[in-house]
Amino acid sequence: MLIRNICCIGAGYVGGPTMAVIALKCPHIQVNVVDTNKERINQWNDDDFDNLPIYEPGLGEIVKKCRGKNLHFSINVEEMIEKADMIFISVNTPTKTKGVGAGKVCDLKWVEKSARQVANFSKGHTIVVEKSTLPVRTAEVIQLILNSCQNQSKLEFNNKSFDVLSNPEFLAEGTAINDLLKPDRVLIGGDNPEAIESLRIIYKRWVPESKILETNIWSSELAKLTSNAFLAQRISSINTIAALCESTGADVREVSRAIGRDSRIGSKFLDSGPGFGGSCFKKDILNLVYLAEYFGLPEVATFWNSVVSINNWHQHRISKLIIQKLFGSLSGKKIGILGFAFKANTNDTRESAAIQICKDLLEEGAILLIHDPKVEKKKIDQDLSYENKYTNSWNIVDCVEEALENVHAAVILTEWQDYSNINWHEISLKMIKPAWIFDARSIVDKQKVLDAGINIWRIGDGST
Ligand code: NAD
Ligand code: UGA
Repeated sequence: MLIRNICCIGAGYVGGPTMAVIALKCPHIQVNVVDTNKERINQWNDDDFDNLPIYEPGLGEIVKKCRGKNLHFSINVEEMIEKADMIFISVNTPTKTKGVGAGKVCDLKWVEKSARQVANFSKGHTIVVEKSTLPVRTAEVIQLILNSCQNQSKLEFNNKSFDVLSNPEFLAEGTAINDLLKPDRVLIGGDNPEAIESLRIIYKRWVPESKILETNIWSSELAKLTSNAFLAQRISSINTIAALCESTGADVREVSRAIGRDSRIGSKFLDSGPGFGGSCFKKDILNLVYLAEYFGLPEVATFWNSVVSINNWHQHRISKLIIQKLFGSLSGKKIGILGFAFKANTNDTRESAAIQICKDLLEEGAILLIHDPKVEKKKIDQDLSYENKYTNSWNIVDCVEEALENVHAAVILTEWQDYSNINWHEISLKMIKPAWIFDARSIVDKQKVLDAGINIWRIGDGST
């Protein structure tokens, strides 16, 4: 089946960039990205390409090229479903907050709603593609919902039919466009070779065929969760070693370099930091934990759960260390926070280590001056306003200098390039002595900070 019209349900961090790249590479396909969030759609349609809802290097140029030609953003969910030959479900799948499996299993209500919308409004044969990250066997749920409508539509002499494929997304935020243009692999899970071929033809326009992997649908769903779990596990592993380095005089950067030279281990994802954040690592591991428990494998569940608990421990460890270095009390002390996004080159703060660390510092009575070059002020306010506590205890500032004026310490939590070029001699004159830099991202030049008369703690540095 040759695809001419695609609808993507969900104009978020995945739906937006993924569809922009498909539109760029497949000018013969009309790509409609739909969302129920009107504000988000308006931002996607903004005349100023700096106002797109997602900050992602290279995204603006692609949207500029394709929008209004073969890439469209709208809230017309039903109409675009009706027109589509292929529908990507790219909606949010957060961890359930109440009911059975709360705190672990992901909430499928948005996926279910999307499947029902597809069932009701599609016409003819439609290929439904799972783009969201889903627990194993979700395709079964989607198929069941679609089947019930297929039976109904036979009664109404309005024949509809469906194929369901799994095509998980592996892009990372901040490098999404590059990841989409040059993926390590594209995974397609399904059982109908014709449907798989329809999707393969789309990717083949820019991805070498050797990188397009086919699996059964359950392997595809599980491979996505496993991939994130393995990546997160590396970060938790290196963060435990950072703590050991600090106690033993070793340096985690040197340890990472040494182990990364082993080609079996590899050098990527070995940077110790303030703990992994982002919308997916924690949720996907907890999902895996739930699946293991559900299938009667408690040891497997405990193993993966420890990756998340080490991450929590690590974040609190950093907060405790800051308190200890500042003489055990933060009451009324000003602290500059450099970086709030969960990593550089994104405006996303979901599960950012900065949220937990800032909350810990506020809990101790600190006054925070927070700077981030891309995160909106209102987002930081939302993330820190919990139970209406400490509302007047932080200020969001526009530049690094303002964040470090009259502070006892600076805490670097996101590896924004700007933070590596700070003139510490100038800053030192404005800081309260003894002043501290807590560099959780290994981004500043340690000697320059020391030369400026400021104390420094670096993650995993046993010599500081
Ligand atoms: P997101 O929250 O940024 O976007 C999801 C969008 O779906 C929202 O704008 C929401 O309004 C919309 N939506 C929900 N239900 C809808 C419905 N019935 N009709 C129309 N719109 C609807 O989420 P995201 O970060 O893009 O993640 C989407 C999925 O992709 C998740 O399963 C996630 O685990 C997975 N994923 C995310 C990333 C990432 O880097 N963010 C990477 C790979 C995979
Ligand atoms: C991650 C995966 O890398 C993607 O492949 C996946 O598609 C995506 O999750 C998803 O499913 O959502 P992302 O969360 O955008 O992507 O960002 P990463 O680059 O993986 O970073 C995650 C967290 O780990 C960040 O807080 C980052 O600072 C931290 N990290 C990463 C480290 O602390 N050290 C490292 O060496 C690497």
